[in-house]
Amino acid sequence: MPRVNLELKARDPNPEVTAARCLNLGAVSAGTLDQRDTYFAARRGRLKLRTGPASELIAYRRPDDAEATESAYVLAPVADADSLAEALDAALGTVVVVSKRRRLFLWEGVRIHLDEVDELGSFIEFEAVLPDAGDLATAAGKLARLRASLEIADDALVAVGYADLLLDGPQALLRAASEAMHNAYAPYSQFKVGAAVRAPSGAIYAGANVENSAYPQGQCAEASALGALVAAGESAITAAAVVAERLEHCPPCGGCRQRLSEFGGASTPVHLGRPGAEPQTMTLGELLPGAFDREALET
Ligand code: THU
Repeated sequence: MPRVNLELKARDPNPEVTAARCLNLGAVSAGTLDQRDTYFAARRGRLKLRTGPASELIAYRRPDDAEATESAYVLAPVADADSLAEALDAALGTVVVVSKRRRLFLWEGVRIHLDEVDELGSFIEFEAVLPDAGDLATAAGKLARLRASLEIADDALVAVGYADLLLDGPQALLRAASEAMHNAYAPYSQFKVGAAVRAPSGAIYAGANVENSAYPQGQCAEASALGALVAAGESAITAAAVVAERLEHCPPCGGCRQRLSEFGGASTPVHLGRPGAEPQTMTLGELLPGAFDREALET
């Protein structure tokens, strides 16, 4: 039987103040956990292997909604997390790894998490486990009370999971671009380039430059990545990254600025750099001001 939780997540600029407020409310401190969640490319919903004091495989679905949402999940205890991770990685592929230090508080059937997440920063999360926290309406009321007491503003709410925030950030895109770059076919220029784009679905598509002995037939990495996006049935990008072997920050060529603009907006970020380092990030609007777009065709 899937279990149901009511959840709310928000950025927390000041976890020490929040921890003190939790204790004032009568919440009980239940310790600190180091957790590592490895997300695999599941066919339906999300599949993560959580390793920590006790390891478990969790299959779940959650609509992306900043207001408190229900999440149904199936949980399987795992005895040998390392070999399960290896098997799932071989069969499905790893999408992203989320590492965090979690401080746990318990209040009236609600779990309060103060999370310090690698690469993302600090967050607060409420998890009302039904029926421990009462029926749905009672649990929703408790979350509303907690939210008011801890002064969580609307603009601090986060609709997506940590995995999605990481995938949204530059590093996942830079890693995907870099992996593709190693497979670039660039025997003429010896200038290997990789590009990756993120679609609104959250999926990342990567590509490399593909040169040709008839030079003008060569294709840029960005064009290859966009081809993969379109072949997968998607037609928009929310972010992009470009990585080059011989250049720390490789600016996309003029043609590729136009190509990327076809699928993104003026505020879409394009990260230039290498995995593991702070990239130089520019928007498509900065890279290609006054772009020729479909509106021009409609006049
Ligand atoms: N290249 C790209 O793949 N993307 C760019 O935005 C700049 C240039 C490739 C094309 C060619 O294979 C090589 O880099 C040298 O120009």
